Amino acid sequence: MRTIGIIGAMDEEVKLLKDSMDGVEVRNIASMDFYKGHFKGKSVVIVRSGIGKVNAAICTQILVDNYGIDAVINTGVAGSLRNEINIGDIVLSTDALQHDMDATGFGYEMGVIPRMESSIFEADKEMIEKASMICAREIPEVGVYKGRVVSGDQFVSHMDKKEWLVQTFKGYCTEMEGAAIAQTAYLNNIPFLIIRAISDKADQSAEMTYSEFEHMAINNTVKLLNGLVPEL
Ligand code: ADE
Repeated sequence: MRTIGIIGAMDEEVKLLKDSMDGVEVRNIASMDFYKGHFKGKSVVIVRSGIGKVNAAICTQILVDNYGIDAVINTGVAGSLRNEINIGDIVLSTDALQHDMDATGFGYEMGVIPRMESSIFEADKEMIEKASMICAREIPEVGVYKGRVVSGDQFVSHMDKKEWLVQTFKGYCTEMEGAAIAQTAYLNNIPFLIIRAISDKADQSAEMTYSEFEHMAINNTVKLLNGLVPEL
């Protein structure tokens, strides 16, 4: 792959990656700073999109239009939707959807985007397999799961909402950008992968555990990306 776009929603999620870049050129577009340069010998553009699906979609489209990226990786933290997926563990997206897309009033199922061929966007199989291999090599102590990422403009911190997400969509983790990046990648016909480390359990304890474990979770994604990017 020639140029890889790497998006994190928050400064904390991309800071360590940006610090390891060489030959950096920064451009501000749509109030986002795009860092173009080399990371572990690969041509990359690293950017903080801001939180939520609108920011994430705009950011991805800019990466496509202005930088001609060949693939996009979304990195960050997420709330776990499964008992066995613990804080610090990693979820590699098999696919992603928007849990808050609601056209049920028109007879559509929850999560279905009216008049689109697909509302569930599949991640690139080769990127999933490579990431999985790198996890085994670089962070063998961390649990790694391949599964569905469900995204919405909502920080999930209630058990009833969590259970609904599990029952309705069979999600492995929830966050606020992945599916927007996935959908933009799909529309532009480029491969994507969402890499999320678990910062909380998306229930009543989420707000507290999030602050406590965010840093540790991000360190796990950084170790994975350090190994993965040179292999793409
Ligand atoms: N990102 C990290 N934890 C999250 C949660 N519980 N809900 C939404 N986004 C998150």
